[in-house]
Amino acid sequence: MGRLISIASGKGGTGKTTTTANLSLALGRMGHRVLAVDADLTMANLSLVMGIDDAGTTIHDVLSGNAEINDAIYQTSYENVDLIPAAIDWEHVKRADPRGLPGAIKPLKASYDFVLIDCPAGLQMDAMNAMLSGEEVILITNPEISCITDTMKVGIVLKKAGLAVLGFVLNRYGRSENDIPPEAAEEVMELPLLSVIPEDPKVREATLEGVPVVEYDPASDGARAFMKLAEEVDRIAGLKARVMY
Ligand SMILES: Nc1ncnc2c1ncn2[C@@H]1O[C@H](COP(=O)(O)OP(=O)(O)OP(=O)(O)O)[C@@H](O)[C@H]1O
Ligand SMILES: [Mg+2]
Repeated sequence: MGRLISIASGKGGTGKTTTTANLSLALGRMGHRVLAVDADLTMANLSLVMGIDDAGTTIHDVLSGNAEINDAIYQTSYENVDLIPAAIDWEHVKRADPRGLPGAIKPLKASYDFVLIDCPAGLQMDAMNAMLSGEEVILITNPEISCITDTMKVGIVLKKAGLAVLGFVLNRYGRSENDIPPEAAEEVMELPLLSVIPEDPKVREATLEGVPVVEYDPASDGARAFMKLAEEVDRIAGLKARVMY
């Protein structure tokens, strides 16, 4: 049985999609079978970040009752990584019922080692349904106090809903001299800090090219930090497996 991990945050633009893509590639490279799911139904962009822009069947077709989930799974060009893309046109968005997300996604853990779910920000219905498709969650925050407190709120709600909060990622660190330092962020969040990802222009450059930075420039600071995150997630997964099974 694999792990279902939601990638979530309080505010938009913190790096959820970037983290989903890079963590997927990194775990895939380590030999794990990975499925990345675009569960951001209204602002989908995971497939663009992962270089797929011609998907016929998407998660939206599944949620509108017009396709089976297996028809929406695509092999990517990255080792061991499959992807469920989302549609971007409003017609598809209108017809898709987000309440179907958990039922559609959860059974997929039987076929993968990791199912990573790219969620919308916040606690609205779309976001809740996406986040509750996972059994565990990794929170993504930036080093600003309002971002940290909003992400904490999401963590508290998800914990109450029964998800295991694995910890948080401090992304885009070093952009401003007023950044909250990692130790302070960890103290405020009261959760394990899984990785600090520096602000790195290579990450943005990679996004624009449609190639995650761990592939685009593996030696960059950003790529190295995402690889470290993957090692940490793999380590936790191994520990949990030993304790639980
Ligand atoms: N560590 C980083 N350094 C530099 N740029 C970054 C970094 N992380 C993310 N970005 C850039 O920030 C932008 C937003 O990232 P991303 O789309 O992953 O955020 P998101 O949380 O998924 O946003 P949304 O809430 O809108 O879905 C992208 O252009 C991405 O390239
Ligand atoms: Mg996103």
